[in-house]
Amino acid sequence: MTLIKCEHLTREFKKGEETIRPLDKLDLEVPAGEFMALMGPSGSGKTTLLNLIAGIDKPTSGKLIIDGINIADLSRNKLAAWRSENVGYVFQLYNLVPVLTAFENVELPLLLHKLTRAERRERVQKALEDVGIADRSNHFPRQLSGGQEQRVAIARAIVTDPTILVADEPTGDLDKSSARSIMELLSRLNKEQDKTIVMVTHDPGTTKYATRTLHLDTGKLAGDHTHQQEEVLA
Ligand SMILES: Nc1ncnc2c1ncn2[C@@H]1O[C@H](COP(=O)(O)OP(=O)(O)OP(=O)(O)O)[C@@H](O)[C@H]1O
Ligand SMILES: [Mg+2]
Repeated sequence: MTLIKCEHLTREFKKGEETIRPLDKLDLEVPAGEFMALMGPSGSGKTTLLNLIAGIDKPTSGKLIIDGINIADLSRNKLAAWRSENVGYVFQLYNLVPVLTAFENVELPLLLHKLTRAERRERVQKALEDVGIADRSNHFPRQLSGGQEQRVAIARAIVTDPTILVADEPTGDLDKSSARSIMELLSRLNKEQDKTIVMVTHDPGTTKYATRTLHLDTGKLAGDHTHQQEEVLA
C-alpha cells in the first residue's frame, strides 16, 4: 500500500527578485513500512521535503497525498491536528526542553491529546521503555549523554503512536557507537512497530539500516535504490 505519494511536489521561496526552488516537481511513492534514507548535497531540498511530509510546511504546488489525504489542501489548523496524530519528528540536535525532565519532554506531545493523567503516564512509560531509557526518566537533558538525549527525543516522537517517523540527520551529532545504537533503535521501530521512516542522512554507513535510498539534487530525484536491510542484532 502506498502511504506517501508526492505528485509534482514543488516548494519555492522568494528572496527579493530571486526564486529558490528546493523541490521541483518531485514525483515519489513511499509504501507503508518502508525505511527510506534521503541523501544529497547541502541545499538539495532534503529538509524541505521532510518538513512537507511532516506537515510542518506547505507546498507551493503539487499534491502530497498521505494515507489518502492530500495534506497540501488542509488549512494550517487542520494540518497541525493531522500532524499531531500522524507524524513524529526526530531532529539532529534532539530539541529537548532543558527545564523539563526526560519524562516531561516525552509527555509534551500528549498534552494535545484527550487522555487522562494515568493514561498519559502509561504511554510515556511505554515509550521510554521502547527506547531503552526508562531508568533515566527523572533526568534533565543536561544530565544525559547525546545518545541518551536522542533516545528521549525518539520516545517523544513515538509516544503518540504515529504512522510516520521523520528524522533529520538523527545521528549527525553522535559518536560512532551511539550512532549505531540509534540506527538499531530506528530499525527496530520500523520492523517491530511498523513505523514508516523517512530519514535524512549524510552518512552512507547509516543507509544499510534502510530499505531504500533516495538521492536528491537541486530539488530533483537523482537516484532511487531499493535494497536489503542489514540484519540488526538486538
Ligand atoms: N524557509 C526558507 N526560506 C528561504 N529559503 C529556504 C527556506 N528553507 C529552505 N530554503 C532554501 O532551500 C534550499 C534547500 O534547503 P534544505 O534545508 O531543504 O536543504 P538540505 O538538503 O536539507 O541541506 P543540508 O544538508 O545543508 O541540511 C536551500 O537553498 C535553502 O536556503
Ligand atoms: Mg537539511
